[in-house]
Amino acid sequence: MKEIIDIELTTHRIEPSKCKTDMLVVGLFSDTTRLDKLTENLDRKLDGAIERLLKLGDFKAKLGTHAIIYGNEKIAAKRLLLAGLGERKKATLDTVRRAAANAAMTAVEKKAGVISLVLHNAFGQRFELAAMAGAIAEGVYFGSYCYDEFVTESENGRLESIKAEIIDFDSVKIKKLNKGVLSGTIVGKTQSYARTLANRPANVIGPPQLANIARELARRTKGLGCTIFDDKQLAAKGMGGLLAVGSGSQNKPRFIILKYSPANKAATRQPKIALVGKAITFDSGGLSIKPAKTMDHMKFDKTGGIAVLAVMRVVAELQLPLNVLGLIPSAENLPSGTSYRPGDIITTFSGKTVEVLNTDAEGRMILCDALAYAVKQKCDIIIDIATLTGACMVALGRNKAGLFGNDDKLIKQLQRAAEGSGEHVWAMPSGDEYADEMKSKVADLKNIGSKWGGACTAASFLRQFVGQTKWAHLDIAGVDVFEKPNDFAAQGSSGFGVRLLTNYLMSLAGHKS
Ligand code: BES
Ligand code: MN
Ligand code: ZN
Repeated sequence: MKEIIDIELTTHRIEPSKCKTDMLVVGLFSDTTRLDKLTENLDRKLDGAIERLLKLGDFKAKLGTHAIIYGNEKIAAKRLLLAGLGERKKATLDTVRRAAANAAMTAVEKKAGVISLVLHNAFGQRFELAAMAGAIAEGVYFGSYCYDEFVTESENGRLESIKAEIIDFDSVKIKKLNKGVLSGTIVGKTQSYARTLANRPANVIGPPQLANIARELARRTKGLGCTIFDDKQLAAKGMGGLLAVGSGSQNKPRFIILKYSPANKAATRQPKIALVGKAITFDSGGLSIKPAKTMDHMKFDKTGGIAVLAVMRVVAELQLPLNVLGLIPSAENLPSGTSYRPGDIITTFSGKTVEVLNTDAEGRMILCDALAYAVKQKCDIIIDIATLTGACMVALGRNKAGLFGNDDKLIKQLQRAAEGSGEHVWAMPSGDEYADEMKSKVADLKNIGSKWGGACTAASFLRQFVGQTKWAHLDIAGVDVFEKPNDFAAQGSSGFGVRLLTNYLMSLAGHKS
């Protein structure tokens, strides 16, 4: 797949004022009272321009803002971008990432093709240099991204590529920064890959196309294997939930299985982890059809599955010593003469029967088959990620994903992985009291609960398909998309889950973060 924007990311040992670049990026906290050494040195060469700017109060150094000072003959950079970092005590690794994203976005806008970042400098010893370089790399990818694959008539073109470098004068620091650049590049690049797949509309990506993309990814990635079940195989295996949801569309459902096996034999004794992602390539609601107004958003109903696809790519490229299974049930939910209907009773892969009372509650119908498959494969840990309920968005808004599960340790690990990733989660309940609501008179379960607590009843439905296996569920309905562009990102897919799940798996594999 061609990348939206080509990024070459390196480190460079050089004195910042001597760095020949289109844009030199330095971070500044909003509560700075005295400039640090590096910034003071630049200020002196710029004849006090930074001090004057701050004194006038034109730049408050809030996170997500920046100021540009144009260079002179005493510094080699054409522009100095002062990136706001907000309050010093509130800073996290995500602060570094966001500042890098904002700078990279500005570089693309200004057509500054070479950008040199010394953002880590302002943080001193607060975070590990490798972790900061990783966050900066991810931020550069994140901020420069913009989905314009099908725009053929743009006004004045845009930058096709950028060269970004993280710079420092100290060779010991450069060595540490290098380590972070390596992994940050893999994560950043793959998150952009996820965003592009997610942004593609349903006439471009249906279940069969998504299966081909997974197959292609496995073909070119060491350690990654791919198996696809088509509709005939789904019928033979008894995956009734996935088949029912896909039955209304000509674009037949697929079950995508990606398997990562580490090269290191010792790692085969590691726990087996299943990542399960909902990939509804379009959710019209089916016969229980959705209102027209924002139905176009429902091309994003595949983002859970795409996050899983992307994380599998990251795991393989980082060659983590873990056993990971990526399970992606994919279908298109459309109304037609062959659709599943309200009232239908479906026998799912687990053997449990489900009474369908709303065809728009389709995510749980496909996930239950995939979860039961993970249990059958004897996975030790199952994590699913899905744009499951509008109710989760009502409960938590657009900044936090709902986190559910049956194992406190797993929930804590995911909360920790979310810290600093910039992909936030909030723990929510899914116990027996919600499960009671999902009992049916004519089948084992029904697919909707009462009016209230929809994110929790949906989670409790899923919970009934994992048995005793440790399980967590991320409801990303509110966070998978930016409705409007913001200070760090273009509108469209956010790639949510790629950094969070990568962090989780990296710490399981013993990496420091
Ligand atoms: N894909 C939707 C959930 C969704 C809604 C995601 C808005 C992103 C934005 C899901 O399949 C759905 O339709 N859920 C229903 C469940 C209901 C019928 C019980 C919902 O949330 O309304
Ligand atoms: Mn739906
Ligand atoms: Zn859906």
